[in-house]
Amino acid sequence: MLKQVRGTRDLIGGELNKVTQIYRKVYRVANNYGFSQIETPVIEYADVFVKNLGNDSDVVMKEMYTFIDKSNNTLALRPEFTAPVCRAFITNNLQQRASPLKLICHGPLFRYERPQKGRQRQFHQVNCEIIGEESYLADVEAISLAVNMLKALNIERKVQLELNSLGDEQSYNSYRKALVDYLESHRGDLSSLSQERLVTNPLRILDTKEEGDRRILAGAPIIQDYYNEESEEFFSQVKLGLDAMGIVYKINPLLVRGLDYYSHTTFEFTTNELGAQNAVIAGGRYDRLIQQMGGGKIPAVGFAGGVERISELMDDVDVVSTVVALIPIGEAALMVGLKVAHQLRADGIVVNLFGKGNVKKRFKKAEGSVAAVIIGEQEIESNQLTVKDMSSGSEIKVGYDELLPELKKYYTNSVK
Ligand code: HAM
Repeated sequence: MLKQVRGTRDLIGGELNKVTQIYRKVYRVANNYGFSQIETPVIEYADVFVKNLGNDSDVVMKEMYTFIDKSNNTLALRPEFTAPVCRAFITNNLQQRASPLKLICHGPLFRYERPQKGRQRQFHQVNCEIIGEESYLADVEAISLAVNMLKALNIERKVQLELNSLGDEQSYNSYRKALVDYLESHRGDLSSLSQERLVTNPLRILDTKEEGDRRILAGAPIIQDYYNEESEEFFSQVKLGLDAMGIVYKINPLLVRGLDYYSHTTFEFTTNELGAQNAVIAGGRYDRLIQQMGGGKIPAVGFAGGVERISELMDDVDVVSTVVALIPIGEAALMVGLKVAHQLRADGIVVNLFGKGNVKKRFKKAEGSVAAVIIGEQEIESNQLTVKDMSSGSEIKVGYDELLPELKKYYTNSVK
């Protein structure tokens, strides 16, 4: 039996309808904020990620799909969008347009993680970046956009916004030192993973799920006490901006995120409905990344929403499609039917042509349609077509020119 790869899924029917709906709705909202779309390749040089997400991050250390191609290049299937979007920004010389530049993209991403509910090896994100805006207003706008996307998807009640600031580089480094000093003094009591992280990536320990580690962390220094004046000021402005918009948030000093490029604002929209994988949308400010990648000193902020997790939170969507059944009876009628179907579809009518087989069975199949267009011998002789209203059962005869206006009556606003 052929199977799909572990951690990947086929999307069919209702599930795919939801995903299509997600993209349609989020793009519509992003449009209201002046975003334009960008598409980057699924493969990149592995260095785009290795050098920029953090050598010690889980994504780089354990989860990247890397391979050597036939020209001996080390490539990676992208595990996230921010680094490729910044790479594209630099490669295509978009600096001049960054005032700011607001970019949205979506697509598949790959991380070799242990699959579970809400966690796959091939997953999808909708990703938004505001590039070239140093003011807190961009952070506030990014969060406002995420909230309005969640509203458009009708799941904003199921998530809460958690907010933190990592401060600038100076604040971050002094906090990191204080945290390491504290944790070193408890080293023997930490879990083995946290002991490892104490060397490689100490702030990730704040994310620990281990009870024992959490007890130790309860007495650890917190980042808020290490902000310098500028970092304090920046964070207050973000909070004031969110307050002004009526956006509710909870400060979570343990929210550090798993990727290395963040400074100042970090945020996650989390849910209680998806078990351990509780982050639905996540992001933050990354003022150093573009410069680190060889571009100018260009600040940026953004976020990504996990499409599978969003979809899990959404109710099923009914795709109400106004389908017209076309039932030609006999060979001559079939040729007329082909022509009529071809034209109607060009005119924006959804047509299901039931061209062959037992007539009774064909009418049975047409039962879910709004109307049936019947072409029999009689109709061909009189140069007319029968339109049957499938809910009332009533029939009328129309000329060929009258068919389209007659069928349009079944459509509300969806036909051009
Ligand atoms: P991230 O936190 O790694 O951030 O991922 C963002 C979101 O993608 C998560 O909150 C989750 O919904 C979804 N996600 C991540 N991994 C998986 C998985 N294995 N299966 C299913 N869903 C997953 C980033 O990727 C950053 N690039 C976000 C960002 C954009 N920061 C600034 N701009």
